[in-house]
Amino acid sequence: MPKTRDILAFVLIVLPWTLLIAVWDWSPINDFKDDRPEKRPYSKISFPLKKSCPPENKDIVQAGHTKDVYRRSLPWSDVLPILHVITPTYSRPVQKAELTRLANTFLLVPNLHWILVEDSQRRTPLVTRLLLETSLNYTHLNVETPKNYKLRGNKKDYTIPRGTVQRNLALHWLRGTFSHNNSNSQPGVVYFADDDNTYSLELFEEMRSTRKVSVWPVAFVGGLRYESPKVNTMGKVYGWKTVFDPHRPFAIDMAGFAVNLHLILCKPQAYFKLRGVKGGYQESSLLRELVTLNDLEPKAANCTKVLVWHTRAENPLLVNEGRKGFTDSNVEI
Ligand SMILES: *[C@@H]1O[C@H](CO)[C@@H](O)[C@H](O)[C@H]1NC(C)=O
Ligand SMILES: *[C@@H]1O[C@H](CO)[C@@H](O)[C@H](O)[C@H]1NC(C)=O
Ligand SMILES: *[C@@H]1O[C@H](CO)[C@@H](O)[C@H](O)[C@H]1NC(C)=O
Repeated sequence: MPKTRDILAFVLIVLPWTLLIAVWDWSPINDFKDDRPEKRPYSKISFPLKKSCPPENKDIVQAGHTKDVYRRSLPWSDVLPILHVITPTYSRPVQKAELTRLANTFLLVPNLHWILVEDSQRRTPLVTRLLLETSLNYTHLNVETPKNYKLRGNKKDYTIPRGTVQRNLALHWLRGTFSHNNSNSQPGVVYFADDDNTYSLELFEEMRSTRKVSVWPVAFVGGLRYESPKVNTMGKVYGWKTVFDPHRPFAIDMAGFAVNLHLILCKPQAYFKLRGVKGGYQESSLLRELVTLNDLEPKAANCTKVLVWHTRAENPLLVNEGRKGFTDSNVEI
């Protein structure tokens, strides 16, 4: 008899506790407790926790190592044309921010090779570290812009436009690295992407098919909402929609064209001119060595779409509501 009573007492004591523990373990209050930010920093943001899917939550926590965030590279293709993107850069307060923004964009573009050229006596630790931490395919170069450029036999000094000697060094590097008589080398396209512009991912796919020189509109430049090549009904470029000197041979911004690598290699004399070049003629000084107007290939839906914007912080066009512009309502900016 005492045995039965003992068992009954045991069950009466243990059963409520078992139930209580079971309910506690199952209740949403416990989920909430476990979901403290310091425990599940990433899962909390995008996936509200549900008890029904614990395995996914574990995966998300494991993927959240911050050291690896830039190591998510796209697979490299041996057939897709390589985009050699040349960026001159110089030390300034927003440099790291601009380069980070650019690297984040480039990480989303397949087969992109970034040629970053510092305007400095030596490669800086800031830029070196930034490049090392990304999984981008890159080449890190440097050359300092001379303070001024003395014309021989002339007292006059010329200041060299920022970025010019850096872009030329990159062209020199490309010619030294890829030989033009190597017919089985992978096709490539060369683009000059300054670090203070904003680039649409579409732009890179548009330029990838460049046969000689491709062109497209650029927004917030030359005092306008956008500048653009003029394209006729035959799909040919016949002039330039610009206010500033539209009679330049190539009245186009640095961000508004790309060149086939093969053309760069077989015209080794083509560089940006350092002297005797008026403002706004830099682009022309290179392009006139490579093509004629008739060769230009309009991209971005026959130059009716804006895929790149000048977004330098001090650009007055970004804040001025009364900005001038072509009243072409078909073009979205
Ligand atoms: C980097 O680019 C070169 C060609 O420029 C290519 O051969 C190489 O596989 C690329 N490497 C990576 C890791 O993408
Ligand atoms: C082709 O390139 C190689 C170097 O890569 C060079 O030695 C050779 O002379 C070149 N041939 C021609 C015909 O240009
Ligand atoms: C550009 O214009 C040409 C000639 O009018 C036309 O054949 C072509 O389809 C157009 N391209 C695009 C992408 O709209």
